Amino acid sequence: MKFLFFSVCFATAFSLGSALNISDINGPGFLSPYSGKAVSAVQGLVTAKGPSGFWIRSTMPDSNSTSSNSVYVFSSSAGKNLTVGDIITLDATVSEYRSSSAYLYLTELTAPKNISLISSGNQVTPLVIGEGTKSPPTEQFSSLDKGDILGLPNNSSQISAQNSTLQPQLYGLDFWESLSGELVTVQKPTAIAKPNAYGDTWVIGSWKTTGLNSRGGLTLTARDSNPEAIMIADPLDGSDNPKGTRVGDSLQDITGVVTQAFGYYVINPLTALNVTGSAQPTLPPPATFSSCGNCKGLTVGSYNVENLGPNTTHLPNIAAHIVDYLKTPDLMFLQEIQDNNGATDTGVVDANITLSTLVEAIRVRSNLTYASTAINPVNDQDGGEPGGNIRVAYLYNPAVLQLRNPNPGSSTDANAVLPGPELKYNPGRIDPLNAAWNASRKPLAAAWETRDGKNKFFTVNVHFGSKGGGSSIEGDARPPVNGGVYDRLAQTNATASFIASILAADSKARIITSGDFNEFAFAAPLETFQNISQLRDVDELAGVDEVERYSYLFDMNCQELDHMYVSEALARGAVIAKEIVHVNTWASYAGQVSDHDPSVARLDVCQD
Ligand SMILES: *[C@@H]1O[C@H](CO)[C@@H](O)[C@H](O)[C@H]1NC(C)=O
Ligand SMILES: *[C@@H]1O[C@H](CO)[C@@H](O)[C@H](O)[C@H]1NC(C)=O
Ligand SMILES: *[C@@H]1O[C@H](CO)[C@@H](O)[C@H](O)[C@H]1NC(C)=O
Ligand SMILES: *[C@@H]1O[C@H](CO)[C@@H](O)[C@H](O)[C@H]1NC(C)=O
Ligand SMILES: *[C@@H]1O[C@H](CO)[C@@H](O)[C@H](O)[C@H]1NC(C)=O
Ligand SMILES: *[C@@H]1O[C@H](CO)[C@@H](O)[C@H](O)[C@H]1NC(C)=O
Ligand SMILES: *[C@@H]1O[C@H](CO)[C@@H](O)[C@H](O)[C@H]1NC(C)=O
Ligand SMILES: *[C@@H]1O[C@H](CO)[C@@H](O)[C@H](O)[C@H]1NC(C)=O
Ligand SMILES: *[C@@H]1O[C@H](CO)[C@@H](O)[C@H](O)[C@H]1NC(C)=O
Ligand SMILES: *[C@@H]1O[C@H](CO)[C@@H](O)[C@H](O)[C@H]1NC(C)=O
Ligand SMILES: *[C@@H]1O[C@H](CO)[C@@H](O)[C@H](O)[C@H]1NC(C)=O
Ligand SMILES: *[C@@H]1O[C@H](CO)[C@@H](O)[C@H](O)[C@H]1NC(C)=O
Repeated sequence: MKFLFFSVCFATAFSLGSALNISDINGPGFLSPYSGKAVSAVQGLVTAKGPSGFWIRSTMPDSNSTSSNSVYVFSSSAGKNLTVGDIITLDATVSEYRSSSAYLYLTELTAPKNISLISSGNQVTPLVIGEGTKSPPTEQFSSLDKGDILGLPNNSSQISAQNSTLQPQLYGLDFWESLSGELVTVQKPTAIAKPNAYGDTWVIGSWKTTGLNSRGGLTLTARDSNPEAIMIADPLDGSDNPKGTRVGDSLQDITGVVTQAFGYYVINPLTALNVTGSAQPTLPPPATFSSCGNCKGLTVGSYNVENLGPNTTHLPNIAAHIVDYLKTPDLMFLQEIQDNNGATDTGVVDANITLSTLVEAIRVRSNLTYASTAINPVNDQDGGEPGGNIRVAYLYNPAVLQLRNPNPGSSTDANAVLPGPELKYNPGRIDPLNAAWNASRKPLAAAWETRDGKNKFFTVNVHFGSKGGGSSIEGDARPPVNGGVYDRLAQTNATASFIASILAADSKARIITSGDFNEFAFAAPLETFQNISQLRDVDELAGVDEVERYSYLFDMNCQELDHMYVSEALARGAVIAKEIVHVNTWASYAGQVSDHDPSVARLDVCQD
């Protein structure tokens, strides 16, 4: 107690009596040692001005990279008389600010007063990121993630509670925190995502990266979640960033201040981003392979068609993707097929008009008339856009394959594996009354054969629960909350157990599972899925490069939420191939047709 008393007294006396360096104010950790305290005669060079404050940098910056030498001064009025290049002293209160308890704190000076101008017209030189030791780490965000940002339990600790000493060479959050308030330049930036509604855009600069894909984006891989990217937020001059930026666009050098906003480290640039070039070609080429037309090489496509109703304006474009880019696969796994009146909540659950409208749009473009099959959900029970009743569905080329002894189940009938093995319902939903599927789509299992009645194989079309409700990858909770992860663990378990029961009846059964798993191959739900089902990842079988495995963009990451897995009996064959056609991730936000990329694979399903 005696020591504590002494320590508090000392800190207070020190903060009131002495001139502190800005790096002393920031301190070596995430939170200031002087939080809540008054500081006086803080000296700094004004490096930038914004609508609600200004930034100052120590006039004696130290070379120790652990604490930032700059800080934000929050005040809507005090900066009015100041000019970039002024050296001032001021008195203020040190404050830690965040707008949500899920975010990290920003250390700032508030209520500045007694501002004295020491000199004007001083040179302001931005610090160049990537020069010297100021290069961001490329894999890990925080020591608290213990090497795996997808580790469980999630939120087992919080940065604000640990307040560890920064390790900017090792961890991305520590790196960006060590530059908090600093005026920086990003040289030769590349856009690596689409802007959000405000024009905020993720970029990388001319520094070392890992996970770079051939388009110029960064792909999330196991234990590499790309902290070397930084979001560019609102320009300080009141202009707007462009909204049409695409992955791989090159940009003019960016100069701005590092700060913390809405759960992310961002740079507020002095002026709006300027796109100077784009990756070519604008859109990817179509799949390089097509169906052999027989069991030796069937093509199987998968596409989350994003809330597709009969009248949605993107329906013809979805049809065009299936025809032009996927080359009309023999079997299509679709997700997010809405009912016949789309997102209108009137109790309608049938989707036959949605499907027949899509089939007709494909026929007009290709002259192939697909057949379709799906099972209605119970009204309003499967989540997604209210009233839309999204479900998974199959389209298939009836000239090549057919359902084996069709016997569709009802919305609540649980499919089962009968001797043979055969399916009790064809198609039929898996375990639809299991609580694992509350407010989520039930997987649809089906049995197929080629038109000659031979070459039986099974499929399971999935659309697992979403990651909604998760916390920011740069937020306070470590590891971040992976929204819905426990639902997906239960869902992958139930689905994999069903698949395992087919293989228990016939270890040589040919099984294809595909769809929107809403999860990464290297996260616990899909590791569980593979362990229980013993299925193989077609990306691996077909040799898809790890960094090219992406079907979705979120935050800074190109990432793969959509997958295809097959049983051992399908893991062989000379024709095996898989391509993810990046027709949506490469497009601008306005130009994308769905938020997911489609993919297509070719498999040998012939009976031995
Ligand atoms: C955070 O850590 C700094 C040292 O880096 C310490 O002075 C300060 O008191 C800590 N703040 C909190 C709230 O833990
Ligand atoms: C204002 O700041 C100057 C320079 O730090 C200091 O000498 C002076 O005492 C301060 N005035 C007041 C009223 O605090
Ligand atoms: C400010 O920083 C300089 C350079 O690192 C150092 O010499 C000086 O002692 C610091 N001042 C305070 C008050 O810590
Ligand atoms: C930088 O500061 C930290 C924390 O105060 C200290 O542990 C480290 O030794 C310093 N590094 C250098 C190069 O001075
Ligand atoms: C700005 O300068 C004017 C003239 O010196 C002074 O009257 C005013 O109080 C200053 N405003 C602020 C916000 O410091
Ligand atoms: C993480 O856990 C802490 C402590 O229980 C809690 O205060 C915080 O709200 C949690 N964060 C998230 C994002 O759930
Ligand atoms: C994951 O985070 C959420 C939100 O903080 C919490 O409710 C849940 O219990 C966490 N899971 C585990 C296993 O800690
Ligand atoms: C954007 O970049 C181009 C090419 O470097 C340049 O010609 C143009 O002046 C820039 N526009 C702005 C607003 O800076
Ligand atoms: C779709 O368009 C058709 C033809 O215009 C119309 O009859 C039908 O009511 C529309 N359906 C919905 C859900 O808007
Ligand atoms: C859709 O299904 C309903 C009910 O079975 C049927 O009356 C209608 O004719 C079907 N419409 C189409 C376009 O298939
Ligand atoms: C279109 O498909 C139909 C039915 O398969 C076939 O009879 C017809 O010859 C095809 N037309 C063209 C132009 O390929
Ligand atoms: C899968 O579910 C079963 C039955 O609920 C349970 O006993 C088992 O522990 C689960 N396995 C995993 C890996 O979650």
